[in-house]
This record gives sequence, structure tokens and C-alpha cells, in this order.
Amino acid sequence: MTDRGNLRTVAVIGAGYVGLPTAATLAHFGHHVVLAERDEPRLAALRSGRMPIVEAGLDELVAESVRAGTLRFTASATEAVVGAAFVFLCVPTPQGDDGSADLSYVEAAAKEVGPVLEPGAIVVNKSTVPVGSATLVEQVIGRTDIRVVSNPEFLREGTAVRDSLHPDRLVVGADDAHAAAVVGALFAATGAPLIVTDATTSETIKYASNAFLATKLSYVNAVAGLCEEVGADVRDVMLGLGYDKRIGFEFLRPGPGWGGSCLPKDTRALLHIAQQAGYDFSLLAGAIASNEQQLARVVAKVETACDGSVDGVTVGVWGLTFKANTDDRRDSPSLQIAHRLVGLGAHVQAFDPTVAVGVDDQDDAGPADLRGLSLCADSYGAVTGASAVVVLTEWDEFRWLDFGRVLDVMAVPSIVDARNLLDPAAVRRMGFTYTGIGRQ
Ligand code: NAD
Ligand code: UGA
Repeated sequence: MTDRGNLRTVAVIGAGYVGLPTAATLAHFGHHVVLAERDEPRLAALRSGRMPIVEAGLDELVAESVRAGTLRFTASATEAVVGAAFVFLCVPTPQGDDGSADLSYVEAAAKEVGPVLEPGAIVVNKSTVPVGSATLVEQVIGRTDIRVVSNPEFLREGTAVRDSLHPDRLVVGADDAHAAAVVGALFAATGAPLIVTDATTSETIKYASNAFLATKLSYVNAVAGLCEEVGADVRDVMLGLGYDKRIGFEFLRPGPGWGGSCLPKDTRALLHIAQQAGYDFSLLAGAIASNEQQLARVVAKVETACDGSVDGVTVGVWGLTFKANTDDRRDSPSLQIAHRLVGLGAHVQAFDPTVAVGVDDQDDAGPADLRGLSLCADSYGAVTGASAVVVLTEWDEFRWLDFGRVLDVMAVPSIVDARNLLDPAAVRRMGFTYTGIGRQ
């Protein structure tokens, strides 16, 4: 085990949305970090100083540590763990067929590194994993000298660097409290409150956090639906809620439904855990069902804007990522709504600032999730000849478009704003019909 005072040698397995900011943050704090990534294009990008993901400030943080010699990259997890006192598993845990978390990447990584871990090394589960996973990983490794610590990650995509350097809290859980505490100490420079608990509780905290955020959003979207019925303005309703410190302003923006690589899979995983445990978590089931309804409500708004049907109609789509400031389209409500419109017979012309044009339905080599959409080079291309445009992702640039030009190129000037991004009065004055979420 390598130990230089309170600075340690750390291996991070998986250079994705979590592993890369985690490795860069630990290196920034002065730890020596080796980051293993088996995906060749991702690794090649990192080695040439390019970031494989869109994440504000990540390139500077990585470059700084590479220059300082505290961060290096390797293709092999087994190479990365040589000399490492701590091994962070940051590999995917996608949704399995039955809604449970698929632990195959975690198990494979544990199996891969198990035999070559340094004596006494600590393995850290940073991937989001169900209760009991720390024990499972310990069993897969099968060595009495190795401890496994749960250290769930709470960063958000788009603000991952800020969230990693300044987390609201740190959670570490293990049956060996000392092992948990030394993992927490790696992040001491953040100054964040540290919760040291057992592994099961730590694993539960992660799912309970994401499920709470998802439930809060389902509630907000449901209140927005109610506002439409009673003639209230959801933005002012949320202002009124947000000033109550017990509620707070975060996560009060209604939208097309919550998505992304984690909230949908983690809510379903928690529901699965509850079912397995024989606990009736109907509140969470309701939040998930309500989110499905939200997607359908947005599709219905577009149909209404197109006189009842989108069949054979050209619809412009602004935004495909699951939220702004990320290139991530995993489980994106924007993309799901775009595809539902295609399924209803619409010709969808889409623009997203992170999606390169040239990859479209004609291009079989392009990403499968974009097939069936006509991708456009800019916002204006997406609305040319369209009978409606739907704002699905809250990219700031959509606010500042030349709406005179948008009006000129659209066949019918109709806007469905699923993010309440635009000023209804301003666009109506210009001659658009406007439909938002939870407001008139
Ligand atoms: P990701 O798909 O972006 O990255 C995972 C990376 O691990 C990939 O690049 C993959 O090639 C690599 N990998 C897999 N097995 C490997 C191995 N054996 N050796 C080397 N590299 C390997 O995934 P992500 O979004 O970073 O999520 C990782 C975990 O963190 C998941 O459990 C997720 O639920 C959790 N999480 C994600 C976020 C987020 O915002 N994305 C936030 C908190 C927690
Ligand atoms: C979420 C959590 O916020 C992180 O704490 C957690 O670490 C992460 O999941 C994870 O486990 O992966 P993230 O998926 O990056 O982070 O995205 P969020 O910012 O939480 O947004 C999730 C969804 O909610 C998006 O579709 C977003 O558009 C939507 N949202 C968010 C709203 O509709 N309104 C809001 O006010 C906030």
C-alpha cells in the first residue's frame, strides 16, 4: 500500500460522468490518482487532453493535475490498482430487465482487480448500487484483507466539477468504521459534512436521495398541471413555495418530465428493492407513473398546437439532452418526446447544441437513439417549414434567438415551451401562439 502522509495513491476504475470528475478532484487535492478506462476512444481522448464528456471546468481540472503529475490514465484496471491504497469503482449500474440495478460491471471490475489488489487495500463502491452490494463485492473479491466501503456520489451532470469540489455532504458506509473514516478523509479538503455509517444505510441514502428529488419533481409537474386547470401561474406558485426554507428553491422547475442516466433507473431500482423487501412503496410508484403522464401531457400539448394531430406534420424540436449543459442523452425526456412525435407520424426536425449534424436517420452509422429524427445545424433550421416548435431542453441560447427570423421561417408560428424558458407575452406580441407548462 502506498501512503505519503495523508496523501494516498488512488485507483479509479471507469472514466465516465462520475469517475472522471472524481479522479480529477482527488488529484486536485494532491492524491496520486491512476484512472483506468477500457473504452479506447474515451481513453485516447483523455490522453490527448480532450474531454470525452461535456462538463464545465473539467478540462482545466484534468489538465492541471496531469501537468502536476498527480493524474495519469491507463487502459487496464489491473494496472491501475498496483500500488493503490484505495480503489474506486465508478462503473455503470444500468437498469436491468426487472427494474433492478444491473451489477454485472461492478462484479466484473471487482473480479478483475481482486487478485492484484495491494494487501489491505480499500475498495470503494462509488457506483450507485443496491443495499447489500458492499458485501457482494467483498464476496466477489474473496480476500480477508480487503475492506469494501460504500461512498455514494451525489454530483449532477453539468455541474460535476463544482459538486465534486464542494459537495453538500459526504457519505461513507462500512461495517468497518475505520475503513469508512479513512475514505472520508481523502475528501477532507472539501470541508463538507461527513456522515459515517454502515454500508446498508449508506447505500440506502443514495437511492433515497434520488427518489426524493424525483418525487419532488413529479409533485411540481403535477401542481403545474393543476395550475393549468384552475388558471394559476406555476412560476409564482413555486416562488411562494420556495421561500419556505423547509421546501427551498431547488428542484421546483416544472418540465417535460425528469430523466437522465440516474433518476429513472434509481427510482425503479429502489421500487424493486422495496418490492423484494415486501414493502409497499406506493408513493414512489405514483411518482414514477406521474412522470410517465408528464411526457404524455407534453406530447398532447404539441398535438393540440397542431390542431389535434401531428400526423404528417413537421415539428421543430429544440433540445435533445436530458437537461442543459451536458451532452448526455441517456433516458432523456426530450428525446423520448421527440420519438413519440415521430411515432405519431410527425416529421421531427431537431437541434441540440451538443449533437453534430450529419448524423441523422439516413446514416446507419450514427447513434441509434437519434434515428428517425432529422438533425439540423441550428435552431432556425429545426423550425423551417414547421407547424410547431417544442422547447424540450432548457439551453440558454434558445432564449436569445432572433424570434423575428423564427416567425419568418415557420409554416405556423406556434411554440410549445416545455421548460417555461421563453417570455409568453413577448412571443405572443410577435404573433406566435404559446403554450407553456402550468401557466397561461
Ligand atoms: P458512464 O457510463 O459515464 O462511465 C462508466 C465508465 O466505466 C465507462 O467509460 C466504461 O467504459 C468504464 N468501465 C466499465 N467497466 C470498466 C472496467 N472494468 N475497467 C475500466 N473501465 C470500465 O457511467 P457514469 O454516469 O459515470 O455512472 C457510473 C456510476 O455512477 C453509476 O452507478 C451511476 O448510477 C452512478 N452515478 C452517476 C451520476 C451521473 O451524474 N452520471 C451521478 C452519481 C452517481
Ligand atoms: C441527479 C441528482 O441531482 C444528483 O444528485 C445525482 O448524483 C445524480 O442524479 C445521479 O445519481 O446520477 P442529474 O441526473 O445530473 O443528477 O440531473 P438533475 O439535475 O438531477 O436533473 C434530473 C432531471 O430532472 C432532468 O431531466 C432535469 O431536467 C429535471 N429537472 C431538474 C427538472 O425538470 N426541474 C428541476 O427543477 C430540476
